[in-house]
Amino acid sequence: MNHFQRRRGVLHAEDIPLDELARAYGTPLYVYSTATLTRHWKVLERSLRGMPHLLCYAVKANSNLAVLSLFARLGSGFDIVSAGELYRVLKAGGEPGKVVFSGVGKRDDEIAFALDQGVKVLDVESAEELGRVSVVARRLKRRAPIALRVNPAVDPKTHPYIATGLRESKFGVSVEEARRLYALAAGDPALQVKGVAMHIGSQITELGPFVDAIARVRGLVRDLAREGIHLAHLDVGGGLGIPYGGEEPPHPDVYGAAVKKALRGFDGEVLLEPGRVLVGNAGVLVTRVLYRKRNGRREFVVVDAGMNDLVRPALYGAQHAIEPVARPREDEIVADVVGPVCESSDFLAQRRRLPEVNGGELLCVRSAGAYGFAMSSSYNARPRAAEVLVDGDVARLARRRETFADLTRGEQASPPARRFGT
Ligand code: LLP
Repeated sequence: MNHFQRRRGVLHAEDIPLDELARAYGTPLYVYSTATLTRHWKVLERSLRGMPHLLCYAVKANSNLAVLSLFARLGSGFDIVSAGELYRVLKAGGEPGKVVFSGVGKRDDEIAFALDQGVKVLDVESAEELGRVSVVARRLKRRAPIALRVNPAVDPKTHPYIATGLRESKFGVSVEEARRLYALAAGDPALQVKGVAMHIGSQITELGPFVDAIARVRGLVRDLAREGIHLAHLDVGGGLGIPYGGEEPPHPDVYGAAVKKALRGFDGEVLLEPGRVLVGNAGVLVTRVLYRKRNGRREFVVVDAGMNDLVRPALYGAQHAIEPVARPREDEIVADVVGPVCESSDFLAQRRRLPEVNGGELLCVRSAGAYGFAMSSSYNARPRAAEVLVDGDVARLARRRETFADLTRGEQASPPARRFGT
């Protein structure tokens, strides 16, 4: 369920027509719905009732401060993958004690920042990283709370670029290596063994891979307990998919119930790291049609949003639903919806059946709340889009559109010279 619906033919974000937002803030424009974000968070939260749990929203999916602040007010924890994401969480009022720090390549300064701020746990992904965390913790005279990210070697059956739990992916450590590292960590006074983490991939539309992966990690948790290493939490990661078009992923209720069932008998806390399922369908990208054109037999709708604004179609072949903001016409076209960027991969859709649209009209690209703005860039010197958060009939500019001055911030045409060596 989301709050982008038609009223009198026109697409609205909650109570505001998208064309009015486009007029007020310009295009391309990311629009998020407060009611949808809140609802998604609460549904998932409720699905875990009866078991100690913490939702740690995966900041990378959409790191706008207004979105983070909304989740923080709901009581959310956060999953971060960089010091920059921790900075954002803190700035949005998130509690560091509810932050889990994942990621395969943490630098010393990032580890130190996280320890200084008092994050809940660092999810360690290799033997060498475990060593670095220990060194940094000793330097800071702290005990670092750690979990090992285990790679359960299951196939999540998703796009290869977003599968992370395969045996040969760069993420996590094998179950066997985890056993060895837990023993090492348990004997290290600079480390505090807190839990275990996994994350097998993203946009997963079946329960099977989650259940299999949890079963494998539970086996490890039991073995460790026999050796006297008791884990306080088990982090099942994120990855639950959303319907972009034809997919039918399990409802969050069903997913939550399956997680609980797979963890029955585990008396610790369960952590979840949902990203896409919370924000994906809570956001859209509004773009204006600039031109229509035809080259040979191929029909094009040229719009003002490019791959720099939404890279998912170009990068993963993602299929985002696209529809006119105004009441759709009866006549249909089959066209490529393309942006202004000078790359052939700059498309939002290819050979897509759409209601007839003309230059000047608005299109709405759905399910753009996750990995949309967050992955955007200013490639081709295109200032990044504005982001608006709607709540009923109130809109708030959560990020102003970038200006030309933003494009060159930090640069100098004639930088001062600095000579090295002799
Ligand atoms: N936890 C960890 C450790 C992760 O690496 C990720 C996502 C998540 C949680 C959240 O996963 P989610 O619930 O959103 O599936 N840019 C790609 C998705 C990359 C996902 C990376 N990791 C896309 O646009 O499809």
